[in-house]
Amino acid sequence: MTASRKNANSPMPAPKKSTSPTHPIDPSKFTPHFVWRKSSLCAEQIALSQIAARYGTPTYVYSRAAIENAYNQYKTAFRTVPTTVCYAMKANSNLSILGLLAKLGSNFDIVSGGELYRLKRAGIPASCAVFSGVGKTREEIRDALREGIHCFNVESESELDLLIEEATRARKKAPAAIRVNPDVEPGTHRHISTGHHQHKFGIDWPNARRLYLAHRNTRSLEWKGISAHIGSQILNVAPLRKSASRMAAHFTDLQKNGIVLEHLDLGGGLGIRYTEEVPPQLDHYARAIEAIAKPLNCRLMLEPGRSIVGLAGVLLMRVLHKKSTRGKNFIVVDAAMNDFLRPALYNGIHPITPVTRRVSQEKIIRADIVGPVCESGDSFLKDWPIEEVQQGDVLALWGAGAYGFAESSNYNSRPRPAEILVSGKKSKIIRKRETRAEMLRGE
Ligand code: LLP
Repeated sequence: MTASRKNANSPMPAPKKSTSPTHPIDPSKFTPHFVWRKSSLCAEQIALSQIAARYGTPTYVYSRAAIENAYNQYKTAFRTVPTTVCYAMKANSNLSILGLLAKLGSNFDIVSGGELYRLKRAGIPASCAVFSGVGKTREEIRDALREGIHCFNVESESELDLLIEEATRARKKAPAAIRVNPDVEPGTHRHISTGHHQHKFGIDWPNARRLYLAHRNTRSLEWKGISAHIGSQILNVAPLRKSASRMAAHFTDLQKNGIVLEHLDLGGGLGIRYTEEVPPQLDHYARAIEAIAKPLNCRLMLEPGRSIVGLAGVLLMRVLHKKSTRGKNFIVVDAAMNDFLRPALYNGIHPITPVTRRVSQEKIIRADIVGPVCESGDSFLKDWPIEEVQQGDVLALWGAGAYGFAESSNYNSRPRPAEILVSGKKSKIIRKRETRAEMLRGE
């Protein structure tokens, strides 16, 4: 790579859709805690085939140890600067997962009143959360203030006005940071790129600076920090480093002007390996960021989502039908784009493999693996190499822990899947499969 190194400010074309591999990929080689035991693929110590038999399909399965490890790796990697990890709960906001991360000491990044409500229901105080988001409503601001949010990441001047108005009315000091748009091209899919000047996110530096200075002495506002988030599934440290050094320069500029901030929030965005990607080593990323943050003598905040939960989950599905038309093979499964949207929305490539190895070596075929939804876009993989499968076989779609269930819908009147958390030899339902009646509630 990379175009972003040559010129980090010029928009990059969306990454090319990867071509399918020539041989089946075994993601267990790079997915911790999902392992083959003899002929069974297991989440920790439970066979995924057993989980499918017990709870049905489609079903999300998460490994508790995988989530714990990913979180702890952040804590170990960032060790020379005081760091708070604010898990971006939009990636996976199941109450049990929030509870698990809170127990480990995580803080949270929220983007809506709904996420604030989830935190509350998980027993997590708002003081453990920062509130990002480009369109906060008056009501959301009021609730977050009342609940004692740690910091608002303000994304527009009118949002700031609203915040000051609400804080004045509540006789409170609103804790705030401005989300600055650092104008850095992260080199990721255009739908998940957020830190370039063309994007709707944040405020450009000259305007952000003006607002910091103008509200230096505003009674109902307290400047806590400065924040940025440039995009998601970033596979190169260079744009993250570039954004961090721009933000550090802004931090120092404000300090020189008498505004001393407590924290620098650099957002999330670190990519993970779904197939052939080579994401940066966490340690490499940490060393690069800490070198920039250390001289500021402040707290570092990070908002990782995908890199905490992405590899910790698979989506189980069953083969419904197989067919061949004009030499093309289709495997129709019982999960669909409503259950898992990433392939349709971002051309995300998530390997799919059987969860049981047969005694006899199966022949490898190439097939499109598709769901039952009435759209051609409802295709998980195209021309994918996979062992010959049979009707009823259970398959796993890998790397489904982040932006999986969270983006599910009822399209085609399909109830949303169950979610299961595995811990060692134990599994528990952390979200029941939606029933048809529940799906219609409210109509
Ligand atoms: N902070 C903010 C302000 C964000 O908007 C996001 C993600 C994150 C943190 C966490 O980023 P992460 O570490 O997960 O990359 N649905 C898309 C991803 C959308 C990301 C939106 N913002 C996908 O499936 O690829």
